[in-house]
Amino acid sequence: MAALIETPLVMACSGWDAYRLLDSGAGRKYEAFGPYAFIRPEPQAMWQPRLADWPAAGEFIPGSDEDGGGRWQFTDNLPDEGWELAWNAVRFTAKPTPFRHLQFFPDMAPVWDWMRQCASPRGGGDLGQQMLKPPEAPAFAGAHEFLNLFGYTGLGTLALSQHGRVTHVDASKKSVAQARQNAALSGMAERPIRWLTDDAARFTAREVRRGRRYDGIILDPPKFGRGPEGEVWRLEEGLPGLIADCARLLDARSRFLFLTVYAVRMSSLAIAGLLDEALSALPGTIEHGDLAVREEGEGGRLLPTAIFARWSNPR
Ligand SMILES: C[S@@+](CC[C@H](N)C(=O)[O-])C[C@H]1O[C@@H](n2cnc3c(N)ncnc32)[C@H](O)[C@@H]1O
Repeated sequence: MAALIETPLVMACSGWDAYRLLDSGAGRKYEAFGPYAFIRPEPQAMWQPRLADWPAAGEFIPGSDEDGGGRWQFTDNLPDEGWELAWNAVRFTAKPTPFRHLQFFPDMAPVWDWMRQCASPRGGGDLGQQMLKPPEAPAFAGAHEFLNLFGYTGLGTLALSQHGRVTHVDASKKSVAQARQNAALSGMAERPIRWLTDDAARFTAREVRRGRRYDGIILDPPKFGRGPEGEVWRLEEGLPGLIADCARLLDARSRFLFLTVYAVRMSSLAIAGLLDEALSALPGTIEHGDLAVREEGEGGRLLPTAIFARWSNPR
């Protein structure tokens, strides 16, 4: 039976070439996405900024509605087609979107590291503490099967594709197309990846009926979303059933499940409890806590971005 570790962890992204948190405070954050700096709203940055000045290529001005809306104001001419960034061997295009993101979520970088450690042959044990980087060459031998639900522009999928076959599921045709472009940009277009435009919950239920199994599952569900046929996704209502179905796709030889939740008033203990219940028949460990980004400069403040719960099985 999987053991639940009650004490929360922090998985902190310390910034790399493509992304740095330069400063934060007074409800905003100041970040560099490669060569361009941007200012975005950040309600959790309640402290004061360290820097006097935030010169930026653009700022996202939020709408009056707490849950969305708003628009970018640009001071620099940015390339229309976006610009190329990289995480290890994964190359991708960054570009401001109307949803205030830049086509990737940099706070996921420690998650990609963790999954790869779980997936690699020497994976297992206290994976969060090891920073072993697997070699960049793909190792399809023994072909593990991974599932990335709500996969967006595919960075997690491409990171995992080094260790086996990946099924990438997202409801948005545009996101899947962008993910495929990122695969091509990374020279990974020929990797064994199934790119599916589908509703995550319906697809997972179908996989259960087909008797499929996976070695690892990552899911990053939004608070609210819609499937391609208009299926409605509401996190609080849909998550228990989806996690139960994910559990049916795993067995004692599987290696991990990683769940992130953001923009919802919920503790990581709640989603850890959900995994604890759903994965009770499996061995391994369940951990939980915050994803965060570490600010540059003196003090290196931690800005929380999401909560997570993860299951790993050293086997
Ligand atoms: C936060 S993004 C995931 C980010 C991604 N994991 C990453 O790190 O880049 C949420 C994604 O869920 C997708 N989505 C929303 N509702 C969905 C549904 N019902 N089924 C599948 N995907 C859905 C959206 O299109 C969006 O790409």
